[in-house]
Amino acid sequence: MSATPDVMTAFTSGLADINLDESGTARRGANAAGMKSASATIYDMAATLSGHGALWNWGMHDPALAEEIRARVPGFGEPWTDGFSEQLYFLALRELPIALDDYAGRHVLEVGCGMGEGLNFLSRIAPGARMTGLDLSPKAVARATATLSRGDDLTFVHGDAEELPFEDASVDVLVNIESSHTYPDLGAFLAEAARVLRPGGFLSHIDVYTRQRTQTMQRTAEATDGLEWTADHDISDRVRAAVRRRMAPGSHFRTTLGKQRMNPLVRQIAAHSQILMFGGMFAGYRPPPAIKALGKLGIVPWMSGLPMESYRHRIAVRR
Ligand SMILES: C[S@@+](CC[C@H](N)C(=O)[O-])C[C@H]1O[C@@H](n2cnc3c(N)ncnc32)[C@H](O)[C@@H]1O
Repeated sequence: MSATPDVMTAFTSGLADINLDESGTARRGANAAGMKSASATIYDMAATLSGHGALWNWGMHDPALAEEIRARVPGFGEPWTDGFSEQLYFLALRELPIALDDYAGRHVLEVGCGMGEGLNFLSRIAPGARMTGLDLSPKAVARATATLSRGDDLTFVHGDAEELPFEDASVDVLVNIESSHTYPDLGAFLAEAARVLRPGGFLSHIDVYTRQRTQTMQRTAEATDGLEWTADHDISDRVRAAVRRRMAPGSHFRTTLGKQRMNPLVRQIAAHSQILMFGGMFAGYRPPPAIKALGKLGIVPWMSGLPMESYRHRIAVRR
């Protein structure tokens, strides 16, 4: 436990270094290794502590999209999930020019799959595909494998987005959701995406970036051989709508935390931490001074303390 604030501090300072840099220079060597190690440790802890069925993104709220999901997955929604995180996953495939009923035999790779719940959800949305999830956190991958894997249809592997353990031209669709803001070398990831995608394959990329990181992404995307960018949608308003609903008293999100056994002080801190981790500041939440102080000490996560400019969905096709 004593190492926890140190790791949190390493993670948050690594995030600030990557996301606030005006030059967008790729981080390599010891700096990058330190950031990745902190990231893997943080998400290992999350994989140990997260409840059943948890996804790790900020979510989005779009009633029409939720309706489409319910039409494909009867019974989907409350009381099991608020569905916001799954909506981001649904968007990742729905916006591609491939019909959701036409995935049989296709290989879908998710890079940064967390505990695999999002990819498991996609396996119901687009049946018949061979789905592989990759993540840097060994415990997240172990948990996904133990709880969700299904033969060759849904598998999970440990690995790094910047060095993908897949053959050239072996993937039809690469999904990447709220993960790339932690990659020290965005160019290495995009080059790997271009390498593993088949000609005509798609990269569906969703993430929240600072102004500086948005510029880095634009420059890096243009400089990546083999990828033609076909869409760049700002989905910030729909993400904020989900975050605000989650922050509201009595929400599914808050009720789930309320059911966990913990002492009242820890519960208070955990409630603020959750809001911070799941986009609170992006949606207008400002933590009280005591929580800010704990953030500076590395006791509560501070990622969303970064001035995030927009949450975007970008699509590229492999030439
Ligand atoms: C905010 S979580 C999102 C997880 C999942 N995509 C979701 O939406 O629920 C970010 C994930 O990216 C993973 N990650 C961070 N850096 C990575 C890297 N270099 N390679 C692969 N995965 C990475 C983390 O371990 C974590 O599981």
